[in-house]
Amino acid sequence: MTVIFSGVQPSGDAPTLGNYLGAFKQFAAFQAENDCIYCVVDQHAITVKQDPKLLKERVRRLAAIYLAVGIDPDKSILFIQSEVPAHAQAAWMLQCIVSVGELERMTQYKDKSDGKARVNAALLTYPPLMVADILLYNTNVVPVGDDQKQHIELTRDLAERFNKQYKNVLTVPEISTPKQGARIMSLQEPTRKMSKSDENKKATIFLTDTPAQITKKN
Ligand code: AQP
Repeated sequence: MTVIFSGVQPSGDAPTLGNYLGAFKQFAAFQAENDCIYCVVDQHAITVKQDPKLLKERVRRLAAIYLAVGIDPDKSILFIQSEVPAHAQAAWMLQCIVSVGELERMTQYKDKSDGKARVNAALLTYPPLMVADILLYNTNVVPVGDDQKQHIELTRDLAERFNKQYKNVLTVPEISTPKQGARIMSLQEPTRKMSKSDENKKATIFLTDTPAQITKKN
């Protein structure tokens, strides 16, 4: 069976239409004929400051969204990243084979650190954690939106590097992006992608918005 793995951060008030079309819709479709493993990647969310109580609540809300979009716990494994210590352990091993230059070239790091006087080290080193998430499960296919392409390329590079330097044990995964909806743009700034943690709520259609709220954002 083909192993499918992907994760979503419990960041922002709720997932967006972009998250649905780029990621969740694919997750549900893959369930019929594959071994699917989906994750609430809460350790990625703490690369920016979080209120611990609110984060706990958002983890529960995101788990509910996973069920609402059609992830069936009888067909797929659904879990919380921080409850499996192997993710952080494997991330450390991968940090030992990646270069600072490779991490500095990540566009998400550039975007999130742009103009900031102080940047958490984890903002730079979170891609190896994402690589670990994927490689731990011998993943064959990673369903994601277009914005994650660079991270999946890094995943493939690091898997190949590890296999060459140590032992041929890691599966090199493929990316899956949808034909339509791979990058839904912000309603306010059409050059930027729609994001669930965008401070301007008018920029984003949340999956929990009512039809009236969505109409008002037009
Ligand atoms: N605008 C988008 N269009 C299509 N797909 C998208 N995804 C995100 N935005 C769009 C896909 O949804 C999944 C969510 O992954 P994530 O939560 O780990 O992080 P992200 O990509 O950083 O998503 P957001 O919504 O932009 O969150 P914040 O605001 O917290 O950074 C991924 O598969 C992503 O490709």
